[in-house]
Parts: sequence; C-alpha cells; structure tokens
Amino acid sequence: MSHRVLVTGGSGFLGSHALVQLQEAGHQVRATLRNLGKADRVRDMVVQGGGDPDAGLSFVEADLERDDGWAAAMEGCEFVLHIASPFPSSVPSDENELIRPARQGALRVLGAARDAGVKRVVLTSSFAAVGYGHPPRTEPFDETTWTDLEGRAVTPYVTSKTLAERAAWDFIAEEGGALELAVVNPVLVLGPVLGPDYSTSIRLVQRLMDGEMPGCPRLAFGVVDVRDVVDLHLRAMTDPAAPGERFLAVSGKVMSIAEMSETLRERLGEAARCAPRRQLPDWLVRLVGLFDAELRGRRPGGVGGEPAAAGASEGVGRGGLRADRAGWRCRRRPAVSPRTLRPVPPRGPFAPPRSPRTLRRPTSPRRSASR
Ligand SMILES: NC(=O)c1ccc[n+]([C@@H]2O[C@H](COP(=O)([O-])OP(=O)(O)OC[C@H]3O[C@@H](n4cnc5c(N)ncnc54)[C@H](OP(=O)(O)O)[C@@H]3O)[C@@H](O)[C@H]2O)c1
Repeated sequence: MSHRVLVTGGSGFLGSHALVQLQEAGHQVRATLRNLGKADRVRDMVVQGGGDPDAGLSFVEADLERDDGWAAAMEGCEFVLHIASPFPSSVPSDENELIRPARQGALRVLGAARDAGVKRVVLTSSFAAVGYGHPPRTEPFDETTWTDLEGRAVTPYVTSKTLAERAAWDFIAEEGGALELAVVNPVLVLGPVLGPDYSTSIRLVQRLMDGEMPGCPRLAFGVVDVRDVVDLHLRAMTDPAAPGERFLAVSGKVMSIAEMSETLRERLGEAARCAPRRQLPDWLVRLVGLFDAELRGRRPGGVGGEPAAAGASEGVGRGGLRADRAGWRCRRRPAVSPRTLRPVPPRGPFAPPRSPRTLRRPTSPRRSASR
C-alpha cells in the first residue's frame, strides 16, 4: 500500500537512504531540509542510491529550532520518519547546541504530527540513549536499558539523544492523542554514502583511511549497516506491533577501531595504506583528547569509549532483542568494507524474512503490478 511519508533530515546519511528505500517501497516521499537550496544535491543522492528524483519526491523547508514549515510539511502525511538531529564530529562548548534542536525539535515534530493527524512517527534515537553512563556490567544491553545521564563519559551528544527520546515518550504518554510512536536505536551506522557530506560515523572511517589518527585508540563500537537501519525504520513504520517499542539496531559483535583499520588495509590495499597499525596507549588517547575535539569525551577501553560498558561488549552484539523477536535480521555485516566511503547503489536483497512475527514491510504497488 502506498502512503505519504515525511522524512526529516533528507539530506543526511540515514535520511538519504530512507528516501531511496521509501521510494522503492512505492511511497510518496516528502523530505524536510533546513535549506531548500540543498534539494538538487539530495536529488543527486537519491539517483546515486538507485532512486528516481522525480517519482513523488518533494521537499519542504523546516528547521528543528523553528516552528515555521512543520505544519505544511506534515500536511496529508500518514507517517513520519523523524531522523534529523545534530550529530557533529566534535564536542560543542555549549551542550545546548545539541540538546535544544534534538529535544525541542522532537517535540516540535511530534506536536505538528499530532495536529496534522499523522498516524505514526518513527524516531531515530541511538544506542547513545541506551548504553552510556552505566557501571561495569557483563549482561547484554537491550531495549529496556536507558543511558544514565549522571554516569561517566556522557557527552553532550549522548545527553541530547537521551533527553530527546525521553521527551518523545513523555509527549506520547501525556499529550500525544491518537499519535503512535516507535523508536529505532542504532549503534554506529556505516555503509555506502550517497553524497559528498560525511556523517560523523563515516568520518571515523575517513580519518582512519587518511592516516589522521597516529594509532588506534582502544575503543570498540557496535556497528550496523545504514541500509539495515533504514529497513528497520520502514518495518517500524507500518507493523501493528511496533508502536510503543524501542528497536535496537545492531549487527553481530562489536568492532574495535584496530579491527576496522585492519579491515580497511586488507580490503582496500593501497587506498588504505595510511590506516594505523599500532594501538595507542590509553594515557595518550586521553592526552590527545585534550586537543582533539573528536576524541574528547571518549574513554578508551570499551564500547563507544565507555569503560563501564567494556564487559558488556558481547552483549551489545547480542542486543536488539525486540527487533530480533520481531523478525528483523541484519542482511549484512556492514561497516568497514571497500564500499564504505564509495557511493554505490544500495541494491540488495531486502526481501522480508518469512517468519510470521516479522515486522512487515509494505508491498510496493509498483512491484506488485509488475509481478
Ligand atoms: N550515523 C550514526 O552512526 C548514528 C548512530 C545512531 C543514531 N544516529 C542518528 O541518526 C540520525 C541521522 O544521523 P546521520 O548519521 O544521518 O547524520 P547526518 O548525515 O549528519 O544527518 C543529520 C541530519 O539532520 C539534519 N539536521 C541537523 N540539525 C538540524 C536542525 N537544527 N534542523 C533540521 N535538520 C537538522 C541535517 O541537516 P543538514 O544537511 O541541513 O545539516 C541532516 O539532514 C540522527 O538522529 C543521529 O543521531 C546516527
């Protein structure tokens, strides 16, 4: 069935893949951009992803920090994928630069969606709202876990994602009316990029390839492919069992920076000759963090730089309990492959799993017609 779907942040890494997959599924897609001047660039990204820039794709200008444009953006939409949120590669001096657009922006989007009669919003939260600030643990993280903002190694980004998701659930409970909410919490998202601007997660790979890091900090991340994350958003959008749920998006075990670097060298050869080989001692990473805004706030030794989570790294790999039970399966181990950083059409077998408990993807009218 075809729906009109609004995607916030259509210019971003996840957002651009969402436009492509929604089109592929036969939906009419509208995207918000902070600046409509980016529309042509986003159309190019859609083409790069194998989509059609003219097939029911439209753009509306809206900023998470302003009310203008949101009512018009929602008009006639049944579903909203609220993906936009600031994700800078460095730590801002004022944490409100991130918290304000993330939290107020989520409330703005939800309020406008409710007022416009939207059926469901799928919010892109993060593992940042799940697995940070905890004392050392060995048990797996799952969707019942919340980041402890009073804990250690909580960066402004982690705070922004946690407060935004909390605010979204509170809004739905207290004033959401008939509006439904489902949340996707991805770990580090990697995979093919469709445009020239790299998300912070892709910047990590780029820094390794460019030899910008003198060595590998002792950090590890859960990783997941952008196409799988978007696939989960589409399932959460229409499946009747999704409202009220968080879905942790993670593929397999965590990957250390050293493993990423090694994979790049192995698979890309000459192009990745600068990817570092040696492990940086923790004291040096802390020292470099004083001067390097991208390392600041990262504490070597664990998952996402979180020492408290180190013992639970296996757990992150086995996370995603609800997404798992709901039938979502990662199609690919993403991450660091020759495809990362190289725009390639994200074609792949997205056929829904056969389990009856699968979160169902809507059938594309275009595809059904051609069968
Ligand atoms: N990549 C990851 O590893 C990862 C992991 C977990 C969760 N996430 C979440 O996934 C979402 C997308 O991330 P991404 O990796 O695709 O990052 P991205 O490429 O930087 O995209 C961020 C998007 O948000 C938009 N945006 C930022 N501030 C905005 C504002 N004030 N008003 C309106 N739009 C604004 C950006 O628009 P402009 O083009 O105008 O800047 C861009 O479209 C975010 O919510 C992020 O927290 C990402």
